[in-house]
Amino acid sequence: MDIKVVPDDGPLLMELTQHMGFRFNRGSCRFGPKGCLLPAPYTDHVQKLKNFEVREDDVWIVTFPKCGTTWSQEMIWLLIHDLDYEGAKAQVLLKRSPYVEFGYMLAAEDREQSSTKDIFEYATTLPSPRCLKSHLPLQLLPDQLWTKKPKIIYVAREPKDAAVSYYHHNRLLCNYSGSDELFYEAFLQNSVMYSPFWDHVLDFWKLRDQPNILFYTYEQMKENLPAMIRKVAKFLDKSFTDEQVAQLAEHLDIKNMRVNPSVNMEDRFKKLKDEGKAPEDLHFIRKGEVGGGRKAMPPEMVAKFDSWTKQHLSGIESPWTQTT
Ligand code: A3P
Repeated sequence: MDIKVVPDDGPLLMELTQHMGFRFNRGSCRFGPKGCLLPAPYTDHVQKLKNFEVREDDVWIVTFPKCGTTWSQEMIWLLIHDLDYEGAKAQVLLKRSPYVEFGYMLAAEDREQSSTKDIFEYATTLPSPRCLKSHLPLQLLPDQLWTKKPKIIYVAREPKDAAVSYYHHNRLLCNYSGSDELFYEAFLQNSVMYSPFWDHVLDFWKLRDQPNILFYTYEQMKENLPAMIRKVAKFLDKSFTDEQVAQLAEHLDIKNMRVNPSVNMEDRFKKLKDEGKAPEDLHFIRKGEVGGGRKAMPPEMVAKFDSWTKQHLSGIESPWTQTT
């Protein structure tokens, strides 16, 4: 079935877009039944992603942006590959765990200059078991996920923390020069890329009891990383000693991830920084805090986010009540 695509030129989105220095400033559309916001150039590729050939032994990591994707990818890739630290060091994460739709988010001109332009095609050539990343919402993911039923790991994060992280990410990735408050308002009004946030999270939360789906939160990883490693390993049918788990937790500690060139993306942003297109002092692996959103936002914005969250979680079990 064809995916419905509707251009969106609402005033808040237009205002936000004006402040995007490059990349996501060529118009946006709403895709699929939940109206997921994506760059207009994705229109030409949405069906290719839906038709992407899934393998039964794939592992898919699906998240709304800035919810702990990279941290989870490194953990999951290492678990799948029996803690092959040498292999992890030898190749950047983007190559080991490709972000399948990313090349298609860019307009043709931008794509040509991007090192990620062929990432979709590259993902099709990776040997099994593949460890694939996507930020697409459930309805835009490949149809074969629901017939081949590979393992799918969904990671969620408290929305204020995700919004603050996303604001800084846009400063880094697109040279966003607007205010933080404009960005947070856009987040609340489903006008940042991959919105709406709550449909993204709750559509997977509803499927959490399916045997091929594991749903956990960034906060659970922060609370007890060794316990999360054990839980994810079990889901992946792997088993490791306590010593191995402790070693992996140390490898995944933010202080070590920050200085690990295979995952910290410093190389990717160096060129932008050198060209003055990204803030010099901003890093892809940033604070890594729980509760950073509450500290960074003014009280009125915190109140808006909290009431928005309450409204969306009303009458359902919250994903943040899970125990590891
Ligand atoms: P902050 O911007 O709040 O610091 P994603 O990988 O989905 O883009 O998520 C990025 C967020 O995960 C950033 O949050 C980043 O700092 C955080 N992060 C990355 N590695 C981490 C780690 N090892 N421990 C804790 N947080 C980490």
